[in-house]
Amino acid sequence: MICQPVKTWHLGDQHQSLVLASFDNRLPEAVYWGPALPTGESHKTLSAASLMDVTGGMVDKNAAISLCPEASQTFPGQTGLTVRSRDGNPLAPAFRYESEAASEHGLSLVFADKALDLTLVLDLTLTPETSLLKLQTRLESADIVQVDWLAAPVLPVPAHTGEMIEFSGRWCAEFLTRRLPFAPGARLRDNRSGRTDHAHFPGLIVCTPGTSNTQGEALAFHYGWSGGHRMVAEELADGRRQVQFGHAGGSQAAGRHFVTAPLYATYSAGGFNGAAIRFQRHVRDAVVKDMRTPRPVHYNCWEAVYFDHKLDELKAIATHAAGLGAERFVLDDGWFGLRDDDTSSLGDWVIDGRKYPDGLTPLIDHVKALGLEFGLWFEPEMINEDSDLYRAHPDWVLGPSDQTRGRQQLVLDMAREDVRTHLYGQIATILRDNDIGYIKWDHNRVLPLVDAAQTEGVYQLIDRLRANFPQVEIESCASGGGRIDFGILERTQRVWLSDSNDALERQRIQHDAALYLPAAVTGSHVGPRRCHTSGRTLDIRIRAWTAAQRHMGFEMDPRELTEDETDVLREVTSWWKANRDWMMRADILRLDSSDPAVIAEQQLAENGDRFAVFAAQIRASDQILPHPVRLTGLDPASLYRISLANRDQAPQLSRGSPFLKTEDLEVSGQYLMSHGLTLPWRFPETIWVLEGQRL
Ligand code: GLA
Repeated sequence: MICQPVKTWHLGDQHQSLVLASFDNRLPEAVYWGPALPTGESHKTLSAASLMDVTGGMVDKNAAISLCPEASQTFPGQTGLTVRSRDGNPLAPAFRYESEAASEHGLSLVFADKALDLTLVLDLTLTPETSLLKLQTRLESADIVQVDWLAAPVLPVPAHTGEMIEFSGRWCAEFLTRRLPFAPGARLRDNRSGRTDHAHFPGLIVCTPGTSNTQGEALAFHYGWSGGHRMVAEELADGRRQVQFGHAGGSQAAGRHFVTAPLYATYSAGGFNGAAIRFQRHVRDAVVKDMRTPRPVHYNCWEAVYFDHKLDELKAIATHAAGLGAERFVLDDGWFGLRDDDTSSLGDWVIDGRKYPDGLTPLIDHVKALGLEFGLWFEPEMINEDSDLYRAHPDWVLGPSDQTRGRQQLVLDMAREDVRTHLYGQIATILRDNDIGYIKWDHNRVLPLVDAAQTEGVYQLIDRLRANFPQVEIESCASGGGRIDFGILERTQRVWLSDSNDALERQRIQHDAALYLPAAVTGSHVGPRRCHTSGRTLDIRIRAWTAAQRHMGFEMDPRELTEDETDVLREVTSWWKANRDWMMRADILRLDSSDPAVIAEQQLAENGDRFAVFAAQIRASDQILPHPVRLTGLDPASLYRISLANRDQAPQLSRGSPFLKTEDLEVSGQYLMSHGLTLPWRFPETIWVLEGQRL
């Protein structure tokens, strides 16, 4: 029996259903979010069935975890909107249904508080190809108001999930995951850095204690915004739980129109991988635009020359890189102004005539003659005090003049149109006058204050450049992975995941980043033999294969390679080129490795017919025999042929005769997923690469 008037909506596909109900014309709440419901299920009945009891010590009615929980409803937790009038008085809107409209893959629901003249619009879609919810909240006000907090549509998470995985990190250790239990109270992340930042990837995965990569339930979220976000994962005193994401608190100026970035969310019954592949596919096919294929093998000269640019040396390096298989050459920091170190010239995007008396053309011509594309580094949002730009426009700086510098630099106020126009002019001139196919766009410090207008300004500048130079790909870098999110990926085609080229660290970072990022956008470079950021010396084999798991590139001085290193790198690069067409569209499936010393993943082709498995021995295992590596996502009834791509790398200390050391194996998907592959013993800091083909 339904006693209250209720409106319902359903967003669903074969993987998940989200049922929303609005009682008494109030804001809708998710009365169901989980596995796909059967057709014919009555959403009205589900809405009625969701009503919870009331007992002693409670108010007489449970306030909903609506898509924007309201203070006016006596909501017992963090509300979805904190808004003040122009003169600072707190407002407590009570929104009521106004109208609705269908959008391409979803709906737009409009609610209003007539007395306060506020309108709340909820834009909700479910992309059918990738099964990803995209949720956005807009607030329109007749008067100027101050919004301290506006959450993207808020979703409840069920009581049986109980755990969450959140992200932290640092320079050279991006995407650190931490698994925490839900507990009474709010887990709040408020990223005040003004950028996405290494320490605050805007993601959250809610799961059960038993969820692993390959099984169990997961509800995964990502807030697609580059300007600092706030996350609230709260267990209310009554036991219910909610997840909120929005811009960092107080980062929006007073005004009449406010909109959150999109919150992406998905329910998976297939472990973390079930969610990860939806994010990976969505980034690749829906978020990123104009991605060049096949993905060109990348060379970046930063760790080879730093600021010491000499034309002849750079030409020689390019020639060597081409010989290894590179198809793109990126000239990093040091080509502009008088930039001999990191104390000067940011802001002066003019070619340094001392280093390049004839401009960049001689280098570009050389690179192009080798058959490579030419790319160039910029850090447009930044300014050094020792620069012509600063001398001319000291007032263009964001924040107070006595602020602490970051890498000796200040930040330009990107909300200013004159700043954007100036930057556009300088960058466009370089792009027009030179044959450039690629920009590495850097951002090497946190902001002096958190300001959404800064991020909107950067988006505008990039959008203008993209519109006028659509053939130029852009890589998002911020001291490595300090600006990785779906907001920046809407306007770029690659991310520099980390300044760490240490293959062991990379294995961990790229494995965890695969919870959201596909291989095609994730840059991974073979660095110098002795890693510049960790001091560790690693063999070329693990360095090369680690880069081959993502968008491959090199970043060492190739003239330093030994003959053996050159051979290995050439071989792995040509393996990558032979496989990139399917691998750059493959799902990255993280394997549940029973040995914590092994990081293993499987890249499964779109049609499921072939795959590659990378099993990296990060350190020595506790036990002497290698644990079998269990695969996932295969057809149990099909037969697969498995071969060890690098079987010649078994060390002499491997004295036995595991089959794969000498032969290919033909076994069922069932065997591969249940028993797993028995691999030869190997040294730590090495990797096995397996290739599989359905017969
Ligand atoms: C940042 C980037 C590096 C490099 C330098 C140049 O640290 O992450 O890859 O481009 O800037 O200054």
